[in-house]
Amino acid sequence: MGVSYPRMLSRLNKLSVENHFDAYKDISWDDPEFVLDSNDSRLVETSVDPFAQSSWYQSLTSPMQSKFGLYRYASCMKTGWHFENLLQRGLLALAFREENGSDTFRYVHHEVIEESQHTLMFQEYVNRSGLPVRGMARRFRFFGELTIEAIAKHDRLLFFVFVLGGEEPADFLQKSLLQAGIEHPLLERIMRIHVTEEARHLSFARHFIEANAQSASKLRKGILSIVSPLVLGTMARIMIDPASDLRNFFDMDKRTYRNTLKTEKYKLMLKGSVSRTRKLLVDLGLVGPFSKLLWRLEGIWDDPAR
Ligand SMILES: [Fe+2]
Ligand SMILES: [Fe+2]
Repeated sequence: MGVSYPRMLSRLNKLSVENHFDAYKDISWDDPEFVLDSNDSRLVETSVDPFAQSSWYQSLTSPMQSKFGLYRYASCMKTGWHFENLLQRGLLALAFREENGSDTFRYVHHEVIEESQHTLMFQEYVNRSGLPVRGMARRFRFFGELTIEAIAKHDRLLFFVFVLGGEEPADFLQKSLLQAGIEHPLLERIMRIHVTEEARHLSFARHFIEANAQSASKLRKGILSIVSPLVLGTMARIMIDPASDLRNFFDMDKRTYRNTLKTEKYKLMLKGSVSRTRKLLVDLGLVGPFSKLLWRLEGIWDDPAR
């Protein structure tokens, strides 16, 4: 990556002080332009979301298409803060064991503070949507709460693979949406703030893995190469797929759901959403022949030549 871990940390620590956001000070929630209205056609998004290209979606009335957009964004945001909540717990467990003078300790706390602001910002959007949004499925929340602190304490490399598993797909989606053009100004503001701060979090997680992978034991690397595709494939789907409460709310039929998962657009999105983590793990020698098979089975492998 070019920059050493200590230099990257001091750069990130400096940037975290110079450029950070407050969920309530930096978003004009009460601006009339920012109001969330389920009939607002600016909430309709068809160019990025593969599910909005299905014939089922096209058959919905315009107000229902807008409402689907409102719910879809709210669902992603609630799932996003469920992930960020687990991430913060892991980061705090990690910081708890750092020595005096540790730059890692300082950066981890900058990140926890930013993730708390993101959580407030996402939940405020959910509240204002007025919709019964669930977020991450209960089984994943249960499993996450049960394991995350132990993972952060005992296997930091695996913890940061989990971190990238949630952060990269969210970042990929938000960048794709910003590039395609978001019409609703509240959504655009939220995503711009998030993408700006996530750039630092992603950089930290990648450099952490890079700096610590070489010194890990053979056994630990072997386990990591097998567990990583499973974690990344699961996390990418949690972040990208429409949650079951959203599908039930709009009566999306199972055929539409399954057929959309088979479309080229969906498959490309899934692979693209983990592409930088995939490249990092390949470069670090953490993808062997058996591991590559798991990446393929998870639908997240892409040959480097492509
Ligand atoms: Fe975040
Ligand atoms: Fe983050």
